[in-house]
Amino acid sequence: MQPARVESGSAEEPRIAVVVVAAGSGTRLGRAEPKAFVPVRGVPMIERAVEAACGMSEPVALVLVVPEGHRERAASIARDHAHCAIVPGGPTRQASVAAGLAAVGATCEIVLVHDAARCLTPTALFDRVAAAVREWGAGVVPALPVTDTIKRVDASGGVLGTVERSELVHVQTPQGFPRAALEAAYAAARRDYTDDAALFADAGGAVRTVPGEPRAFKITREDDLERAEHVLSAVGARPRTGIGIDVHAFDVSVPLWLGGLHWPGEPGLAGHSDGDAIAHAVCDALLSAAGLGDIGSRFGTSSEEFRDAHGEVFLTRTVALVRAAGFTIGNVAVQVVANRPRLGARRAEVERRLAELVGAPVSVAATTSDGLGFAGRGEGLTAIATALLS
Ligand code: CTP
Ligand code: MG
Repeated sequence: MQPARVESGSAEEPRIAVVVVAAGSGTRLGRAEPKAFVPVRGVPMIERAVEAACGMSEPVALVLVVPEGHRERAASIARDHAHCAIVPGGPTRQASVAAGLAAVGATCEIVLVHDAARCLTPTALFDRVAAAVREWGAGVVPALPVTDTIKRVDASGGVLGTVERSELVHVQTPQGFPRAALEAAYAAARRDYTDDAALFADAGGAVRTVPGEPRAFKITREDDLERAEHVLSAVGARPRTGIGIDVHAFDVSVPLWLGGLHWPGEPGLAGHSDGDAIAHAVCDALLSAAGLGDIGSRFGTSSEEFRDAHGEVFLTRTVALVRAAGFTIGNVAVQVVANRPRLGARRAEVERRLAELVGAPVSVAATTSDGLGFAGRGEGLTAIATALLS
């Protein structure tokens, strides 16, 4: 059985572009390197932002706007992504967005503009904004209500009055727009705006809000960086388990790939990809533990891109998604139910290969079904995996 299919395979030309602006110097953070390249729990902000954008439920074209001199590092961060342009930024955020917009591919109808500095923004917010742009044909900004009371003050700190709070919201990124209207608004802009939605609205565009996410806060100063590190460690305090099952029928006409290894002389497994049921079950277990859906909805496993793809392709991408969501993989356990291949002789090799791909210990066990059912009749193989994330 193949994982659930989605028709919008990622080999298709993307209809959504995500422009990640990462060209600021980060003066308020005050580090030697540009802010977007400062690591948060070991992973640079720009890399976290890229992983979150690439996890979207449909293929996206990435445009990374980076400081001159950082294009190679950006390219290595985006190397696994099929559609990616890297351009140097401008002197202001607005100039950087304009540079990014100029690099958006012709097939994109929707553009999301995102601050690399909002590096913990969950993928779900990207999907929410894109869906709202598509539904309303308007500009869309994520917004959270203001909870503190807001005062208007004079230069000396004297209170002039209390601002009515019910009409106020904080806005975040990604902000999404119909592409042509955003380009026209940028072409018409005659001054500097604090966000893309203000520029868009001044050009006559309608802007609406969708619920934002507390984790989409912007890292500006040292205490924001500490907050981000804290959020990630708080995620780590609650372990999460996940489960994945995959079943494939034997097909004697193809080679067997299982657990990321080739098994010469063994009947293969039928499938659009290489049929590696162990690799697929592990991906589903990891995605399930992270609450990130499943392999079919994440990767569009029926797409041309994944024809005959080996398990390691899915595993590498899955591990990157799980890490970007802030998780550390504790361990993975796999149980295979099949008459063949005999796993015992190569168990250590399979475990080593999978551990290398997953970056955590993987144990693999195998059993037969005592002659019962499709496994017992030798028609196919089942792999069941569990994963623990912290
Ligand atoms: N940005 C950009 N080009 C600029 C300025 C900012 O691409 N010329 C990007 C930043 O990299 C960041 C986002 O816009 O991801 C939001 O800007 P901000 O938080 O102000 O970042 P910096 O400008 O880098 O920080 P600072 O203002 O403290 O220098
Ligand atoms: Mg700035």
